[in-house]
Amino acid sequence: MNISIVSQKLASLKSPLAVVFVTEERARLGAFRQLIRRSFGEASVLPLSHGDFNGKELEASIALLPTSAKVKRLLYVGLGNAKTVDPERFRKAAAVAVKKTKSLKIASAHFLMLSHILSDRVAAYALAEGALLSDYSFDKYKTKKENGAKLETLTFLTDNETARGKIEPLVRNAETVANAVCRTRDLANAPGSEIYPESLASVVKSSAEQFGYSVKILSEQEIRDAKMGGVIAVAAGSARPPRFMVLQYGKQYGAPVVLVGKGVTFDSGGISIKPSAGMSEMKMDMSGAAAVVGTFEAIAQLRQKVHLIGLIPAVENMPGGKAFKPGDIITHRNGKTSEVDNTDAEGRLILADALSYAEQFKPAVVIDLATLTGACVVALGHIAAGMMGNDEATMQKLKRSGDRVFERVWQLPMYEEYARFIKSDVADVKNVGGRWAGTITAAHFLRNFIGTYKWVHLDIAGTAMLEEPGEYTPRGGSGFGVRLLVDFLQNRK
Ligand code: BES
Ligand code: ZN
Ligand code: ZN
Repeated sequence: MNISIVSQKLASLKSPLAVVFVTEERARLGAFRQLIRRSFGEASVLPLSHGDFNGKELEASIALLPTSAKVKRLLYVGLGNAKTVDPERFRKAAAVAVKKTKSLKIASAHFLMLSHILSDRVAAYALAEGALLSDYSFDKYKTKKENGAKLETLTFLTDNETARGKIEPLVRNAETVANAVCRTRDLANAPGSEIYPESLASVVKSSAEQFGYSVKILSEQEIRDAKMGGVIAVAAGSARPPRFMVLQYGKQYGAPVVLVGKGVTFDSGGISIKPSAGMSEMKMDMSGAAAVVGTFEAIAQLRQKVHLIGLIPAVENMPGGKAFKPGDIITHRNGKTSEVDNTDAEGRLILADALSYAEQFKPAVVIDLATLTGACVVALGHIAAGMMGNDEATMQKLKRSGDRVFERVWQLPMYEEYARFIKSDVADVKNVGGRWAGTITAAHFLRNFIGTYKWVHLDIAGTAMLEEPGEYTPRGGSGFGVRLLVDFLQNRK
């Protein structure tokens, strides 16, 4: 979908469908109706006067206009109460409009952004976001694309050049971020046969070239030389060798923000093999890595003034003949040892090495994203990511960013008492903590491997992989984390 922005008089507009976003209050207002009636004729306000449409949140109603009219249909989409309207409401409303338009197989539509109705810049950004994010499907492997309905162009129509000029850059930014989110979804949704450590590395390489950041890829031998025992161990049971990626952008901008993404391209559980029901979801166990890549793509294109380092340990967790086993003891990059009690708790083993690796960059802060525990899905569902860490200020900022972009995070406590569950008789720590508080004991495990830096851990097991679609999020890979991190990086100071 392309979004263009024009400034044009309503009277001269030609369109198969124009969308009017309306609050409850406005739907009742005489002045508003008059404006619409004057521009589009009597039929255009019928849904309002007949009570078919009341501006309720996500309500939608179509007014068909006479065949002689230049605008063929008005689609009213409700925004609900004007006092509580927020960006999320605009995202969802745009998604409703896009879906409706597509279901009518209309290839081009207009969003009316008239100064006395909807001039708000927040609205423009959120509408663009909602429209673009909702226009996603993972249909790469479908030889017949579903129902062929494609919305090719969406035009934001303003009534004056100043407004157009204001909206234009916002929409372009929304486009950049939404594209990065959709590429993140594509990466997560791609099957394990397509995305494995080496191929993920080549995807990142071409991404870096295309979007303007750098990447260094460590081979299996280099990973071994770097003493990343966790990455080597988890990869051992797979015929696919591991890779470790170091992404970098904006070197000139001081102490880096380091993003670490769990890159398990398929998690069978290894020798502690998972039940077969639902195992296919584990092709998305590299969603943290995908979000890091998406964030780099967005930040590089936005030319954000921030020094970013991305660390991606990529492995396939398989139960091959050379696989690591329960009872094994791993020596990680920082010299600490972990006892493997369950090979399905593999994410923390590779993150341990990546977190230790981060220390050399003298980070301003390190944020890791990982589809780490099923327990997090039990605790928070698919609504919020679990957040833990050692720096309250950063966590607060992430919380605020999450609330703004609606990729919400919820802090779980890292009380000291939880640490004893991962004590090991034979090594420094054990990789599982038993039945209770699995998300927190996983974070405690990670804490053993961080450096002296500020650190936040985001468990995105629930939010990165969705069982049901939302208004503008698909089933499957959601791209969670990209919008959260972009907002955080834009508002960090
Ligand atoms: N990748 C999984 C976590 C996961 C589960 C993500 C469900 C998304 C949805 C992780 O590697 C894992 O298997 N964790 C185990 C840990 C346990 C063995 C301590 C889990 O959560 O069951
Ligand atoms: Zn696992
Ligand atoms: Zn996993």
